[in-house]
Amino acid sequence: AYAKKIIRSGDSSNLITNEMLERILEKNRIHIGEGKVADYIPELSKANANAVAFSVVKQNGEVVNVGDVSQKFTIQSISKVIALMVAVEELGEKEVFSKAGYYGTDKPFNHYANLETKGKPLNPLMNAGAILTTALLGGENDEAFQKILGMVRYITKNEAIGYSHSVYMSERETGHRNRGIFHLLKNNGLIEGEENRLDNYFKQCSIEITAEDLAKIGYFFANQCTRFDGDTKYKNSEMSKLVQSQMLIAGMYEFSGEYARTVGLPSKSGVGGGIVVSVPNKIGIGTFSPGLDAQGNSVVGYHMILDLVNELNLSLF
Ligand code: DON
Repeated sequence: AYAKKIIRSGDSSNLITNEMLERILEKNRIHIGEGKVADYIPELSKANANAVAFSVVKQNGEVVNVGDVSQKFTIQSISKVIALMVAVEELGEKEVFSKAGYYGTDKPFNHYANLETKGKPLNPLMNAGAILTTALLGGENDEAFQKILGMVRYITKNEAIGYSHSVYMSERETGHRNRGIFHLLKNNGLIEGEENRLDNYFKQCSIEITAEDLAKIGYFFANQCTRFDGDTKYKNSEMSKLVQSQMLIAGMYEFSGEYARTVGLPSKSGVGGGIVVSVPNKIGIGTFSPGLDAQGNSVVGYHMILDLVNELNLSLF
């Protein structure tokens, strides 16, 4: 009982309450106008710019949600961490990282020049690396997408999660740069197959989730791939180390270094407006607000995370 007490007193997530998250959310509404809703995928421009949601899964698995908690949005680049996990589960780390680097980046998410200079994607969290990991999963039709969706449903324990057909079609029709990257990957001999393998990437980006789902994903990778309800089916500390290390160095793209300085936690953003954060061995955080900064990261999300991290001293450093 004594040991338990000590562990509990070290659990700063016990301090997290509805009121605390509410206060942080309200304080940061002021930043809403600073961001710009993504419109390079035309369908994304329809998002409600004023929506904000903030969710935490505490160390004991308890969920705290504030703001527009039922607002769904597309997962976009946050799907890349799930795809990385599924690809490494299936093919092994060695195989996946013989075709993508472990490099950080000073380049935007859709940068691809290194496919020429280094011959492979910088890391699996850039578009080039993520299109690669999903294509490596192979399979017929949308099999690879179904595996990724299945893993998102498992981690969140939310079988109702699906994808937005309109966002999928919108990106499929306008994603010429990603299509180019897919063919460069093929040209370099890194992947095989037809464009359905690229469609799987577009589909995985269109998976619709809430901030709460994101907090559960954050919790999973923070806790050796143990689910928020304690299920250990995929428990694997090497996997969580791998995924979190990639999130730390590349999850916020060219902002990752400055983000490591200010927040200091493995995180991943998506142009749908979501950010997922893992507080290693502790907490999962999910935020949503569709206004993005120049690097494609949610402005209000970043400020809410920063305030919570400072208040509870959650930085790794
Ligand atoms: O491939 C794309 O451009 C989008 N489906 C995902 C990009 C994204 O989310 C970048 N993150 N901030």
